[in-house]
Amino acid sequence: MSFSIELELQNFPKHIKLKDGKKAVLRQLLPTDEKEFHQLFQGIPERERMFIKHRVQDVKVIRDWCKNIDYGRNLPLMGIVDKKIVGAATLHQRLGGWKRHIGRVSVLVHPDYRGRGLARGLISEILEIARLASLERVEAAFIGEQDAAMKMFSMLGFNQLVRLDDYVKDMQAVTHDYILMGLDLRTDEEYAGVGG
Ligand SMILES: CC(C)(COP(=O)(O)OP(=O)(O)OC[C@H]1O[C@@H](n2cnc3c(N)ncnc32)[C@H](O)[C@@H]1OP(=O)(O)O)[C@@H](O)C(=O)NCCC(=O)NCCS
Repeated sequence: MSFSIELELQNFPKHIKLKDGKKAVLRQLLPTDEKEFHQLFQGIPERERMFIKHRVQDVKVIRDWCKNIDYGRNLPLMGIVDKKIVGAATLHQRLGGWKRHIGRVSVLVHPDYRGRGLARGLISEILEIARLASLERVEAAFIGEQDAAMKMFSMLGFNQLVRLDDYVKDMQAVTHDYILMGLDLRTDEEYAGVGG
């Protein structure tokens, strides 16, 4: 793991105030989170699960993540409210190859806890960590139906990089548009409103 990430993680847990006045605790995924983290995915409606690339309903997938934690490669940041994991954002780094300077970001919030600023808080922290890890860009991938998520990312400074019509297929073999959004961490520092 890179020294900067290790150092930055010492600043966690962090606390943020949500729009409803409740406090959320933000911290990295821990090996003991297996059950709780799986529970979060169980709470995501079926129609939204296709947004997620991994088979997260399978507890073995989550167990594997919790057992093989490597924050330098995958940093899952948990959002905890009322002592429950209700949101997560992940920073994925490639550590080599032609996308080594580009981090990939994803985020998910339990339906009962949306609209309170948790996703914004998680992504802001993830972008801060991405900068400290010396990444130059971050990207996030969506399917056409994820309007709310794309709107949120554009408010954080992301732009659409590419849109491919009917490019990806879900489990039922229905095609969806594929959208890649990106943020240049070198130039958009103030504009992105990170930390705000
Ligand atoms: C997208 C998602 C993460 C948003 O989570 P959230 O915690 O409700 O988001 P926040 O409350 O932090 O909202 C951040 C901003 O996005 C906007 N936003 C969030 N949900 C929205 C919606 N359904 N429609 C319009 N705008 C929305 C809000 O206006 C908010 O801006 P504001 O702070 O200026 O009011 C959540 O809906 C989700 O998990 N969706 C399914 C998974 C997904 O699509 N993930 C993204 C893939 S990378």
